Amino acid sequence: MSIIVTGSIAWDYLMRFPGYFRDHILPEHVHRLSVSFLVDDKERHRGGCAPNIAYSLALLGNRPKLMGTAGIDFDDYAAWLNSVGIDTSLTYVYDQEFTATFTVITDLDNNQIASFHTGAMARSRELSFHNLDKDSIDWVIIAPNDPQAMVRYAGECRELGIKFIYDPSQQLARIDRDEFMRSAEGAAVLTVNDYELEMAKKLSGLDIDGLLDHVGAVVVTRGAEGASVYTRAETHHVPVAKEEAIVEPTGVGDAFRSGLLTGLAYGFDWPTTLQLANVAAVYVLERVGTQNHSYSLDQYIARFRACYGDNPALEILRNRAVQNTPEYPPT
Ligand SMILES: Nc1ncnc2c1ncn2[C@@H]1O[C@H](COP(=O)(O)OP(=O)(O)OP(=O)(O)O)[C@@H](O)[C@H]1O
Ligand SMILES: [Mg+2]
Repeated sequence: MSIIVTGSIAWDYLMRFPGYFRDHILPEHVHRLSVSFLVDDKERHRGGCAPNIAYSLALLGNRPKLMGTAGIDFDDYAAWLNSVGIDTSLTYVYDQEFTATFTVITDLDNNQIASFHTGAMARSRELSFHNLDKDSIDWVIIAPNDPQAMVRYAGECRELGIKFIYDPSQQLARIDRDEFMRSAEGAAVLTVNDYELEMAKKLSGLDIDGLLDHVGAVVVTRGAEGASVYTRAETHHVPVAKEEAIVEPTGVGDAFRSGLLTGLAYGFDWPTTLQLANVAAVYVLERVGTQNHSYSLDQYIARFRACYGDNPALEILRNRAVQNTPEYPPT
């Protein structure tokens, strides 16, 4: 079973300013804005959509291949990804670039000032599926990345007959109708959250029915309301997996996609697939950071059963995990 995860690879730098931005930004002088915030704590987290998705895929017993671009500050990140069972042989490291960097300063009111430095991510448009053995690829996800790379990968998957999920997420704000249609066309699945669904409809001028002329299925996540799938043949809505605590939601969408890919890769029915995705997502809600959650497959299966009852797919999940990763669980 070979799943290729494409998307951004980034370091996230999170800083807290122990004051209020509003005390330092003077509206009458913003034409000459020059402020520097002395911050007294800083955390660095592993981030980027592609490693986030690949990480939960590995927890679910897959051995995903991460296809993306990183820079000189990637060594320890790569070592960690390999240690959890992610194959980074399709990840290219550019020694003249930095890995993409998300930097955010948060004040005491939870206002944020952020920047995203694209760095090596801009080079992801240079990667191609034409260099790979297409018959060895079962599924690809095209997660948020350099916009040109996303269009390229979708076009190549279409030409090569590789099944793909188109996951534009926040990049919907950056692309035009043409880019959206060229990326979505032929996708087995388009996945968006409920807000992004409205953006996608506006951008394309199509409703869900119209979108289904171009993609096989539309999967919509609805935060605490769960997730829905629409295909020509069926529509399902699946409520969320019950959370133990809501600590920090960043990354829930990415973890959801790991469960989605797992269900699709194993050929499970849609309700089971959305349930798998909801359970994968809820773990992220309970931790700060997008790759700080962890579970064994047994723990995951027990949690699934507690939320949705037993399902024969769970035994298949367990057996496939052993086939995919003979050394599972990782030591
Ligand atoms: N309060 C919650 N309780 C349980 N599960 C939740 C909750 N909120 C979100 N989820 C799970 O996460 C999935 C994705 O959530 P959401 O629709 O908020 O994604 P998103 O807006 O793309 O998130 P992200 O911030 O990661 O981009 C939901 O379909 C659900 O499975
Ligand atoms: Mg999202």
